[in-house]
Amino acid sequence: MSNREISTAVIKRLPRYYRYLGELSEAGVERISSRELSQQMKVTASQIRQDLNNFGGFGQQGYGYNVQYLREEIARILGLDRTHNMVIIGAGNLGMALANYAKFERNSFRVICLFDSNPELKGKEVRGIPVRMIEELPEFLRENSVEIAALTIPKEYAITTAKILVENGIQAIWNFAHTDLNLVVPKNVAVENVHLSESLMRLSYNLKTIENEK
Ligand code: NAI
Repeated sequence: MSNREISTAVIKRLPRYYRYLGELSEAGVERISSRELSQQMKVTASQIRQDLNNFGGFGQQGYGYNVQYLREEIARILGLDRTHNMVIIGAGNLGMALANYAKFERNSFRVICLFDSNPELKGKEVRGIPVRMIEELPEFLRENSVEIAALTIPKEYAITTAKILVENGIQAIWNFAHTDLNLVVPKNVAVENVHLSESLMRLSYNLKTIENEK
C-alpha cells in the first residue's frame, strides 16, 4: 500500500508511536508486544496492530515488535530518514523559541536561517543560526536547499509571505499564523497548521468535564 492511501488518522498517530519507540530504544528495550506497547501508550492493542498492518505489520507472532526496526520503519514512513532544511520566517518570541529548540535536529529538521523585517535583528544569531532580513529570502531560497518554512509572523503578512515562499521553491509550510493558507497555496505544497490555543481550549473542556463529574 502506498503512503498516500493511508488514512490521516493513522498518520496522525505515527509520530506518537515514533516517540514511544524512541524512549523504549533509549531505555535498552529491544522488543515489545502490541499488548505492552498498548499499555504504555493507552491505545488498544488491536488499534496498534491495525495501524501497523497498514505498512506490512512489522510484528511477528509470539515475538512482538523489534523496537529499533519498527522505529526505523516509522521514521522512513514519516520521511525522518533524511535531513530537512528549514527556515523560520519571523524571529520574534515564537520564532526564536523554535530556533532554540535543539531537539528538532534529532528528528531530522535542521533550522538553517531565520528571517525578519525588523532591522534591529539584522546580524543576530540564535544557537549559531543567523537572522537575515526578509528581503534576502528569495535569493537565499534559490541558493540553498530548503524544503520547509515555519511561519511565525503576524497573520496580516502570512499570505503574501507564503506566496513568496512557494514561488521560490518551498515545499512545506509549518504555519503558526492564524490564517488559512490552503486557499492560496497550491496542492503540491504541504501545509501544517499549528494552533496552541485550540489545544488549550480542549484542555479547558476536559477540565470542565472533570469538575462536573465531582
Ligand atoms: P512577535 O511579535 O514576538 O514576533 C513576530 C516577528 O515577526 C517580529 O520579530 C516581527 O518583526 C516579524 N515580522 C513581522 N512582519 C514580518 C514580515 N512581513 N516578514 C518577516 N518578519 C516579520 O510575535 P510572536 O509571539 O512570536 O508570534 C508570531 C506569530 O505567531 C503571530 O502571528 C502569533 O499570532 C502566532 N502565534 C501562534 C501560535 C499558535 O499556536 N499558532 C502561538 C503563538 C503565536
